[in-house]
Amino acid sequence: MTGILSIKNLVVDFKLRAGNTRALNQVSLELMNGEILGIVGESGCGKSMTALSIMGLIPSPPGKITGGSIIFDGEELLTASKTRMRQIRGGIISMIFQQSMTSLNPVLRIGDQIAECVLLHEEVTKVEAWARAVETLTMVGIPEPEIRAWGYPHELSVGMRQRVMIAMALSCRPRVLIVDEPTAALDVTVQAQIFDLLKDLQRETGIAIIMTTHDMGAIAELADRVAVLYAGHIIETGSTRDILTNPQHPYTRGLISCVPYLGENPTEVRPYLTEIKGVMPSLTGFESGCAFAPRCPYKTPICEEVRPENEAVIGVHTAACHNLKYVAAV
Ligand SMILES: Nc1ncnc2c1ncn2[C@@H]1O[C@H](COP(=O)(O)OP(=O)(O)OP(=O)(O)O)[C@@H](O)[C@H]1O
Ligand SMILES: [Mg+2]
Repeated sequence: MTGILSIKNLVVDFKLRAGNTRALNQVSLELMNGEILGIVGESGCGKSMTALSIMGLIPSPPGKITGGSIIFDGEELLTASKTRMRQIRGGIISMIFQQSMTSLNPVLRIGDQIAECVLLHEEVTKVEAWARAVETLTMVGIPEPEIRAWGYPHELSVGMRQRVMIAMALSCRPRVLIVDEPTAALDVTVQAQIFDLLKDLQRETGIAIIMTTHDMGAIAELADRVAVLYAGHIIETGSTRDILTNPQHPYTRGLISCVPYLGENPTEVRPYLTEIKGVMPSLTGFESGCAFAPRCPYKTPICEEVRPENEAVIGVHTAACHNLKYVAAV
């Protein structure tokens, strides 16, 4: 698989009256063509900021990208012009924003909302844009798309509205789709349907997807590969199988133990932490040591002094922990 999007050493700072907060600290990620990459971590760890950085939409001020690079298909996005970013956003890289269930316009026909996205990015007639809207509604499994396109959002169930959101994001046939917390507001049945839809879309169109979530269960369902984010740091990456069956970092182990059951054998005993005590610290970027050290049951003196780098575990599996061998043996 070849890479399509490469984030290197990304740093995002928020300058606030109360002081500086480093929301992302040297984040590096690689998105491969046609894969679903899951970014997982608890609230405030930087999932949305990672997604918004790619889109060039960090709220500024107070936020600012102060370091690193984001390269899409050979092109540096951080120095791209505003016009170029407008073309890329929605046209080539598309994002479904966190809590965007309510962002459908209640007084516009569904077909018009999707057609509007197409008209914004492509030289097409209104008739062609409408046809694309219907075609995209078909793609995302809306029944009777020709009729539904004439309807309004309130006529649809929550799950169907989520499909329309996905259709809007896909209307220009982007190469990358970013879905920020896709299922936070959905019940489990609808969640499962949305996951199936995203998997089908990936398989049928070859689109690369980044999904952010706080839920390891969602990762297990959907992602091919996972990056675990903690207080603005990537602390572990690997295939979903590696992460779920052989988690290395104490934080990842904790995240997995917060999910009732993930393996193929429900009686399997998992000797992981039963909860992650404490809260994620707010960071300024100047602290030394591992960001997880204050909560880590395995910490040793070096953890508070030296920030651990991501190191290879096996193959593409990496983790940033000074005590990998010791933790893995527990
Ligand atoms: N508007 C803002 N003003 C100040 N700081 C902010 C702002 N937005 C984000 N941050 C900082 O960036 C960090 C990461 O925020 P982000 O929204 O990316 O978290 P998240 O992982 O998406 O959380 P959630 O799961 O709650 O959506 C926060 O912990 C906070 O310190
Ligand atoms: Mg978020």
